[in-house]
This record gives sequence, C-alpha cells and structure tokens, in this order.
Amino acid sequence: MSSLTSAIVATALEDVETPLLAVALAEGSSVPASLSRLDKATGGGLTRAVTSGDFKGKRDETSLLYPTGGGGGGGKAQRLLLVGMGKARDVTRNGIRRAAAVAAKRARALGAKQLACAVAAEARNGTTARDLAQAIVEGAAQGAWRFTELKAAPPSEEPRVEVEAVGIVCDAREAKEAAAGQRTGDAIAAGHRFARYLQAQPGNVCTPAYLADQAKRLADTYAFGLTVLDRAAIEREGMGALLAVAQGSVQEPRFVVLEYRGGGDTAPIALIGKGVTFDSGGISIKPAQNMEDMKFDMSGAAAVLGTFEVLGRLKPQINVVGLIPATENLPSGAALKPGDVIRSHLGKTIEIINTDAEGRLILCDALSYVRRFKPAAVLDAATLTGAVVVALGHVAIGVMGTDEALLGEVRDAGERAGERCWPLPLWEEYRELLKSDVADVKNSGGRGAGTITGGWFLREFVDGYPWVHLDIAGTAYTDSEAPYQTKGPTAVGVRLFSEFILKRAGA
Ligand code: BES
Ligand code: MN
Ligand code: ZN
Repeated sequence: MSSLTSAIVATALEDVETPLLAVALAEGSSVPASLSRLDKATGGGLTRAVTSGDFKGKRDETSLLYPTGGGGGGGKAQRLLLVGMGKARDVTRNGIRRAAAVAAKRARALGAKQLACAVAAEARNGTTARDLAQAIVEGAAQGAWRFTELKAAPPSEEPRVEVEAVGIVCDAREAKEAAAGQRTGDAIAAGHRFARYLQAQPGNVCTPAYLADQAKRLADTYAFGLTVLDRAAIEREGMGALLAVAQGSVQEPRFVVLEYRGGGDTAPIALIGKGVTFDSGGISIKPAQNMEDMKFDMSGAAAVLGTFEVLGRLKPQINVVGLIPATENLPSGAALKPGDVIRSHLGKTIEIINTDAEGRLILCDALSYVRRFKPAAVLDAATLTGAVVVALGHVAIGVMGTDEALLGEVRDAGERAGERCWPLPLWEEYRELLKSDVADVKNSGGRGAGTITGGWFLREFVDGYPWVHLDIAGTAYTDSEAPYQTKGPTAVGVRLFSEFILKRAGA
C-alpha cells in the first residue's frame, strides 16, 4: 500500500520548488491580487490564461501552464496547474478537498512524484488554516490513489510513478495551525487508503477470515481490544441470523469486535459495518450483470476498519467499539431458503422472503450484541439496498434513525466530511410492510420504499441506545472516472465517522 507524505510549505508561491504547483482559485475574469507575484515570476502565464477567458475557474476546471520565468527572477515550479473551485462565496473545505484531489490525480497522470497545493487567499471564503491543510491532505490522497497490486505490470499508457508527497502551501503565520490540520488529514487519509484497499480486494482474497485478520493487524499495531468469533462461537452466542446467511458458504463467518479505549470509563460510540464479502443474492440469486460489484458489499466493514486506523493514529479522548459481522452470501444445497424462519440473537423470529436481503440479517445480530457495551450512540454503515440508488443516486448517503439530535450530528459530520447524508422517514406506516404471517418480522417489505423498510427492519432490533443507520449502497463505489476520483471504491464513511468521533471527543 503506497502512502502519501505531507509537509507544510511556508514559502511564497513564487519560491516553491516543485514539479507541480497547483493553485486553486475561484471564478473570475482577472488574476487575484494574492497571485500577482507568482504571475510575474512565471512570465505572466496566469494573466494570459485568465484574461483570455481560457481559464474561468469553474469547478474541476484546470489549466496547465509551463512557467517561463519572467520579470520577478523566475518561478521555481516546473509546472503550474490552475484548478477551479467555482464561485468564491460557495467555497468550503469540501471544495478545497476536491480541488486538491483534481490536482493530485493530474499529478499522477503527469508522472509527477510530488506536488504542492495552494489556495488563492481570495478564494478561501473564511476557511481556517487548519481546515485548509486537512482538506488538502485528504483530497490529495484521494486523487492520487490507485489500486495496482494485482496487475503484473503497469499498462504502458499509464505512468509508473506514484505521487509520494504533497506540500501544503500556506503563510508562515498560519503554519502552526495548518500543522494541526495536516496531522488530522494524514490520519484520515491513511484510514481512507486502508478502507479503499480492503474494498478493492476481490472476494476470493477478502473473505470473512481476511477481514478478521486485518482487524487483528490493526489491533496489534495500535493495541486495540479484539474479539473474533468463528462459526462455533457465533453459534454459541446465538447469532442465528448471521449464521443463517453464512450457512450457504464454505467460507466461515466471523464476528469481529474492535475496542479503542481513549475515554476512560465513559460510554463508547459503537460503529457497525456490514461485512458481506460477496453477495450473490443466495437462493434469490442476483442477475449476472455487474454481480462482480458485490465484492463491495463489505464497504461498511471497510469504513469501520478505516476509522480504527484513524483512531490508532490520532488517539482521541473517547471510547469507540467497532463491530463487523462478516460472511459471504452464496447459494448451495445448505443455503438459507425463502420461507425459512430463523431466530435472531435478540430472540425475534424472522421469516425469510428474499435471501438477497441478507445485510439486515447480519446487522440485526450486531445491533443486539452491541447492547452489552451500553453505547452512547450506535452508527451502522451498510450497502443495504439498491433502492437507495433509486432515491438518492450516487450523491448522498440515505440516513434513518431513532434520535433526531444524533441524526443531526451525523448529517453535520457528513457535511464536514464531504459525505453528505439525506434523511428518509421511519414512520410507523412503513412498519406494516414487514409484518409476517408466521414470524415476528419478515426480511423484505417488497418493492416500494425499499430503503425505508431496510431501515425499519434494523430498527426492530435496536434497543436501549440512540441509533443512526447509513445506507451507503449508492456511495461506496463509483463507475465513473471523475476528475477528482478514480473509478472503484470510495471509502465512504471513513471521513464521516472520523469527523463525528473527533467532534464528540472535542478534538
Ligand atoms: N448488497 C445489496 C444492496 C446493493 C445493491 C448494494 C446495489 C450495492 C449496489 C443488498 O444485500 C440487497 O441485495 N438488497 C436487496 C434487498 C431486497 C431483496 C429487499 C435489494 O436492494 O434489492
Ligand atoms: Mn443482497
Ligand atoms: Zn448485500
């Protein structure tokens, strides 16, 4: 796993020595005053790009300039990349993160091992130096990321070089504040990278046992508490729903519990991540088209593990427990069938209508197991329903929960993280859809309101703690090659969970 190192560069723009200097700026028809010395030093290329109207500063727009070294004695950057952020008054840390991602992705394409990122003062829109540095590091790590581990040789049209370092250009007076943001950004970027790495692994590598091994690696590195239940232990624990999903596969399930203790004897935050390492649908088998994407059905688990990487690095003053029910969902002679009735860990019985609604089955046992920690709040992340893609596309996480204040806190964290959430109602009316003739509840409510009935099913197992569910099926991976992101896994949830926890910890 390659990583990106960061450094604060408290140097005037025209003096930054780098293969690529990326400067983010807002829309406008003239060069902002803060960039005039850089413009002069680089031969006026900036003025020509902007006043010609070639570079307008629209979001994700870029112009690559090759400085000639003009009046001011010659700029020190080999290349200058202008990156647009749209209107100055709309710029947030998310816009800055995105611009840094665009820059880093471009750096990679150019074969530049290093880049330096700056934001024109006029375009900062009040963003603090701390947020600026954090956003630049997170964005650069996101944009530079590639998964090449399983390729024998890099394809010839793609450069071999990895982007190794990013410089955060800021004023010397801001350097100390920026360093605090850099530290947070470095940790979150590492968690992000780890989550994406796990997501990218194919299902024949990333099995339930593999996820447990990765949790062990984290626990060994950072001295986390670790409990791993294998099939026999899951049986003893009475997790009938997780077992039912796992019974169709020769891969053994695992139930993983990670504990980070930084908060003395205070009640922990619990994070639960869906860890279906491959979802074929089971007996209610999915169509073959795009079924390979179902290796991403462990993205919730990856978000939890990625967050623990962040916790290990930042060590905030708070307790966090991470729970990962992990299994495959496959058809076989031993597999769960529609019509079967199973008994959950909580004791409620579940009629199986559709074996493809397996995520809620493994999560319900985790939601009941988590009670022993007396959590202050429980958040779960799961690629739970295709319906959330219909409702919100690939833009927002669908959120539902039992506590308005907690929902608000999660949504705020999502805004800061650039992982936006939108609420769906868990009204009583929807509960009707899960009534079973033979059991306490059934596992599918049919076609309508699919994301809400998924949420309601989980709610049936929530007992004694405030809870929010994040349906990340639309945001966990992407098929499109955006300028700020590489096709594939997104590590969604890592930033949101981290922001949520850091805020709670007062860090
Ligand atoms: N893992 C899927 C949801 C999913 C779909 C994730 C598309 C990512 C992209 C989940 O287990 C599932 O199959 N859900 C069913 C539920 C239904 C049978 C009630 C669905 O959404 O169709
Ligand atoms: Mn499924
Ligand atoms: Zn699934």
